[in-house]
Amino acid sequence: MVIFGASGDLAWRKLVPALFNLYDSGHLPDQFFILGVSRTNWDDREFRGQMQDAVTRHCDTQSGKCSDFLSHLYYHRLEYDQPEDYKALATLLKHLGQKTGAKDNLLFNLALPPSLPPVVSRKLAQAGLSQPGPNHQGWIRVVVEKPFGHDLESSRYLNQTMAQAFSEDQIFRVDHYLAKETVQNIIMFRFANAIFEPIWNRNFVDKVVIIASEKLGVGHRAGYYEGTGVLRDMFQNHMLQLLSLTAMEPPSMWAADRVRDEKTKVFRSLRPFTSQAVDQHLLLGQYGAGKEIKGYRQESGVAQTSLTPTFAMLKVYVDNWRWQGVPFYLVSGKRMAQKVTRMVIFFRQVPHSMFRQVLGQDITQNRLFLNIHPEEAISLSFQTKGPGPVLCLRTVRMVFDYAVDPSGLSLGAYEKALLDCMQGEQMLFWRQDGVELCWSFLEPVLNRCESCGDRASRLHTYTPGSWGPEEVKTILPDWPEPAL
Ligand SMILES: NC(=O)c1ccc[n+]([C@@H]2O[C@H](COP(=O)([O-])OP(=O)(O)OC[C@H]3O[C@@H](n4cnc5c(N)ncnc54)[C@H](OP(=O)(O)O)[C@@H]3O)[C@@H](O)[C@H]2O)c1
Repeated sequence: MVIFGASGDLAWRKLVPALFNLYDSGHLPDQFFILGVSRTNWDDREFRGQMQDAVTRHCDTQSGKCSDFLSHLYYHRLEYDQPEDYKALATLLKHLGQKTGAKDNLLFNLALPPSLPPVVSRKLAQAGLSQPGPNHQGWIRVVVEKPFGHDLESSRYLNQTMAQAFSEDQIFRVDHYLAKETVQNIIMFRFANAIFEPIWNRNFVDKVVIIASEKLGVGHRAGYYEGTGVLRDMFQNHMLQLLSLTAMEPPSMWAADRVRDEKTKVFRSLRPFTSQAVDQHLLLGQYGAGKEIKGYRQESGVAQTSLTPTFAMLKVYVDNWRWQGVPFYLVSGKRMAQKVTRMVIFFRQVPHSMFRQVLGQDITQNRLFLNIHPEEAISLSFQTKGPGPVLCLRTVRMVFDYAVDPSGLSLGAYEKALLDCMQGEQMLFWRQDGVELCWSFLEPVLNRCESCGDRASRLHTYTPGSWGPEEVKTILPDWPEPAL
């Protein structure tokens, strides 16, 4: 594996610790090497020192395999746009392949700022490193990290330049969210149980709420976040993926392209926004200052007049036979009351309440909670009689919790994603058409909120530690109840 951007945060915090865990649990092949590549002036020894720090901080190293793992690490200094440096890289890869016996399969991991993957892909192709040569027995693959562009045009440019170097089956666009055990479980839950599928449609479902909230603020990512905002950071990728998993039709079989085809159909069915609809269906917020907590505009690296949204609620419709008329509410924000990732399916209310004289008309709807964080659990709420002589209903939940029966080895999201790349399994990765469809869907929303004259008045300040701006209730009146 060759990690471009090896001196960066992702390599240090996520990739190398995940590789160590895979090594520790026996998931890496016997013969392998990891070559770190970036501009920083390190040698093998310095790179190993940095990565030792990463592994000991982030992993359980009690097995004593850390120093053995580090002996598989090497470093190469490279300027990303210099053809000569890629010739030297090719020579080094040949040498390391012979030295370690790992000469067949090559995985390039582009842990780089978004402007660089097109540059590096082109240079790899020019150096003859993007395709297996006639005497090459194995495969060559490339991993690219989100964000996949900043808008539709830049995502097309990224896709086109990468496609000139690699074929689509060589490209792994990582969204580590999708590699979480509980996210994958949504597909199993929906399509391996007969009882939910007949009611998984507009006849029985009243609305769907998908929440991904964070307690923390932007922290050290302010520089990146200022030019990005919550819609690009969370909605273009994670939120629309969670929506597609909830809304997609059953694929005909468990195969990467069958599943990705069905997700793509959901993206194609999203009802496009007119500018008037954006106003009715989108609410944006930005966290203000709280007790001992800086507001977004006081964070270092953020402009004092910043109009970057840190919270959004978007109401969308999927225009197809199954979901016509069912609203999907997507909600995400920073500095909120809790870190929660959850999908809530609200089933329709009973058509007639026989208890209305005693209990009033409203009976709480049945809800299905697909919890991804903090609980990794699925629960179904229903009504029962409250104990005692007085007639009353109470809501109870039937719960499946991963933590209660953690049989089997559970891989972390980056471990699972890296393992799938090595095994050539593209199920959990974005396909080029899905990326572009999601940008096409969001672009009118982004244009409207970034270019309108009254942008400032549309951005509602919220208290840190709350569930977002009060004005959210104009879109979803019972908010934040679904998040609780
Ligand atoms: N960090 C995360 O947790 C995380 C999570 C999800 C996705 N991602 C994505 O993964 C990619 C890598 O993330 P990262 O956090 O590792 O990025 P990073 O630390 O900002 O950059 C990685 C490396 O790229 C090199 N680089 C080249 N040109 C650069 C430039 N103009 N500015 C900054 N660095 C430059 C630097 O190495 P040299 O100077 O030594 O060449 C740097 O160490 C990004 O696309 C990011 O959006 C990151």
